[in-house]
Amino acid sequence: MQTRSGGGEGFDSPRHVAIIMDGNGRWAAARGLPRVEGHRRGVEALRKTVRAANELGISILTIFSFSSENWSRPQSEIRDLLGLLRRFIRNDLVDLHKNNIRVRVIGERDDLDPDIRRLLQEAEDLTRGNDGFTLVVAFNYGARQEIARAARRLAIEVREGRLAADAITPELLARHLDEPDLPDPDVIIRTSGEQRLSNFLLWQAAYSELVFVPINWPDFDHAALESAIVEYRRRERRFGGLIVQTGS
Ligand code: FPP
Repeated sequence: MQTRSGGGEGFDSPRHVAIIMDGNGRWAAARGLPRVEGHRRGVEALRKTVRAANELGISILTIFSFSSENWSRPQSEIRDLLGLLRRFIRNDLVDLHKNNIRVRVIGERDDLDPDIRRLLQEAEDLTRGNDGFTLVVAFNYGARQEIARAARRLAIEVREGRLAADAITPELLARHLDEPDLPDPDVIIRTSGEQRLSNFLLWQAAYSELVFVPINWPDFDHAALESAIVEYRRRERRFGGLIVQTGS
């Protein structure tokens, strides 16, 4: 989808922004600190960014918080990241709820610890009725895995005789992704200077603008988000056609 909405503060903002929060380890290494300190500061940057996104009139923020590939990191770092997620939900959920923020989760749940599954479910259940802003947490998420899950759901419908194979279209496949109601991201931001998608939202990114910013995630803040949006607004969006839709 290519919808955008006007923003707060008189600022015309994209409707859906997705972020690859990269560079926590490098931020820590540059300061002689353990990697976990980079992740802790990353959670603080996340809090600031949720607030900033809300202030800038963005409606949906999707964050890549743990990838399917992150399991290959050392056990101690995995423990730290899972611990930060637990603490984030336990400490911040009430605040998110008070601020009318809906939490949605994408990614594979089945192979997660039961307590994490419960926390993610609790965050979704508590905030289901909120309509001020949506925070989509991509956790244990990989885009190829998500597309494979959608294909599996379709295959089951075909096997059970509820769907004809030649009725499968891109639109139908999209309706079998993890959160099919969400519009595609207008812009995907990646911090730390790396310029790739790393298996994030590959289906949904078909027409997203990509903005790469050279700072590490713990240094990301309101000003950094605002300048990434200014960059997005400079782009022309054609969606494969001739009609130019700019951010202004
Ligand atoms: C990339 O930094 C970041 C991650 C692997 C995860 C992002 C996690 C957070 C911001 C904190 C956790 C937040 C929640 C809600 C769980 P990196 O370690 O790849 O950095 P590097 O590339 O410099 O090593």
